Amino acid sequence: MSGFDAGWLALREPFDAAARDGALAARFIAAVVDRAARRNRAPSVSKLMSWRPQACRLVDLAAGTGSNLRVLAPLLPGDQDWLLVDHDPELIAAQARELGRWATSCGWQCRAAEGGLVIDTGQAQWRVRARRLDLQGAFDQLQLASFDGVTTTAFLDLVSEAWLERLADRIVAAAVPLLATLTVDGRREWQPASDDDRAIAAAFERHQQGDKGFGVSLGAGAVASLQALLDARGSMTGTAPADWRVDRDSGAQGQDMLLRMVDESAAVAREVDPAAAVTFDEWAARRRSQVSEGALSMLVGHRDLLALPGRPAA
Ligand SMILES: C[S@@+](CC[C@H](N)C(=O)[O-])C[C@H]1O[C@@H](n2cnc3c(N)ncnc32)[C@H](O)[C@@H]1O
Repeated sequence: MSGFDAGWLALREPFDAAARDGALAARFIAAVVDRAARRNRAPSVSKLMSWRPQACRLVDLAAGTGSNLRVLAPLLPGDQDWLLVDHDPELIAAQARELGRWATSCGWQCRAAEGGLVIDTGQAQWRVRARRLDLQGAFDQLQLASFDGVTTTAFLDLVSEAWLERLADRIVAAAVPLLATLTVDGRREWQPASDDDRAIAAAFERHQQGDKGFGVSLGAGAVASLQALLDARGSMTGTAPADWRVDRDSGAQGQDMLLRMVDESAAVAREVDPAAAVTFDEWAARRRSQVSEGALSMLVGHRDLLALPGRPAA
């Protein structure tokens, strides 16, 4: 439906996890915990024995199979309540499978319960629910103020300036922390460089600015646009690089990743500029042999963005 198959999301997941900026994530987590604590004051001493703090509540926009949860949940303290939103029924169906597999590999229990899943780590319970929703047509159905944090990853480059304005308005109105990770910033560097890289990159950039269901997408300009929109509304924002680096030391998964990036780049270039198809095919053939020789590496530039509620005017 969206063109993002679960196999591709699984392939990129370790590269995403390695690329993310730890400092922005730590500040996001502190803000989420603080907001949850303010919602969740301890009761009187007489009721303290039976008191269990309420779970932190998070919503992940365009969640795919749940990779954002798999990174952030182990970093957040205590019980958690996650809502994973996506419009693709196949990816939503894959969430339970991927989360179950991940929980088991970590030695945790995962069971179906309460209209979703519950992952029990022994120290904490993470309740996970999925919601199928088109974030273009039905975004306003999400009550962002009912969450302690909003996350999204590898999504903002698909959306338009108009949608980012909606997001900024709603984040600021809800005064909720936002962590938006892994948005492409346009840098794609192949090593060794070749003469045709520039044509491949130009075609890729044109393709990225197509309509992905939200109007003309911002592609590499998305983080700068959203940061400007949030700053103008009084949020406290920060960004940091979160680049994929894939080379011969990235193992078999790195090799698969390079092959996929080569093939995808050539396919996109052919689609955008069919007249140059032979050039792109030759480029891909050379790049594929470099992958098998362990001679190709690549960097794909991304940025992470954090937005925290601004101080209320005195
Ligand atoms: C690159 S994938 C990222 C998925 C996930 N966040 C991850 O990092 O693995 C982009 C996601 O955006 C979702 N998406 C695209 N358009 C959407 C829309 N209109 N409403 C909701 N989700 C959408 C896709 O289904 C896909 O899961």
